[in-house]
Amino acid sequence: SWYRPHLEKSLELIQRAAIGSAVQIIDVGGGEATLVDDLLANGYRNISVLDISQTAIDVSRQRLGKAADNVAWLVGDITQIALPQQFYDVWHDRAVFHFLTRPEQRVAYVRQVMAAMKPGGTVIVATFGPEGPETCSGLDIVRYDSEALHDQFGARFRLVESGVEVHQTPFGTTQQFLYCYCKMDAEST
Ligand SMILES: C[S@@+](CC[C@H](N)C(=O)[O-])C[C@H]1O[C@@H](n2cnc3c(N)ncnc32)[C@H](O)[C@@H]1O
Repeated sequence: SWYRPHLEKSLELIQRAAIGSAVQIIDVGGGEATLVDDLLANGYRNISVLDISQTAIDVSRQRLGKAADNVAWLVGDITQIALPQQFYDVWHDRAVFHFLTRPEQRVAYVRQVMAAMKPGGTVIVATFGPEGPETCSGLDIVRYDSEALHDQFGARFRLVESGVEVHQTPFGTTQQFLYCYCKMDAEST
């Protein structure tokens, strides 16, 4: 329904993980967010943006104009879409994982991460935090603290850092986000 103008925290964490312009980055649930614009502006050239909504992808493509040709656009449900195997160096998801209210959806998501990521890759996931809203766009969500979120991913993911960010909405309310920054172990599945 609305988007934060720039995802500064996400950009900062991705830049920390993605050294060199050749790294493969996927933004899961990128929607209409301007993160892809900021990644392009920072020189990244191997960016995939995935969203279940064709409309959201179209908005971003149109906004970017010719620069959109430098991005791989993927439309589908992250729990089901076929992704390349051991391909991505950096996985970013802000405000998608918390929509997965059924355990089997979360298991499917984590399987996707494990299969699509290169060994040793970085996984950055942001959900609503313990004091965040209980719904998003009228949909139920699951709130996490860092331990609970890390537990969903398991031992192959080493939690390097976590933190909360309080986001001011256009409606004068706040939303607490929890960011987890994990490194995957270096052995392939
Ligand atoms: C709240 S928005 C967040 C957008 C952006 N990541 C941000 O932080 O501003 C959630 C996005 O995830 C997408 N989404 C929701 N469920 C999804 C799923 N199962 N697979 C892929 N995308 C999904 C929605 O279409 C929407 O664009």
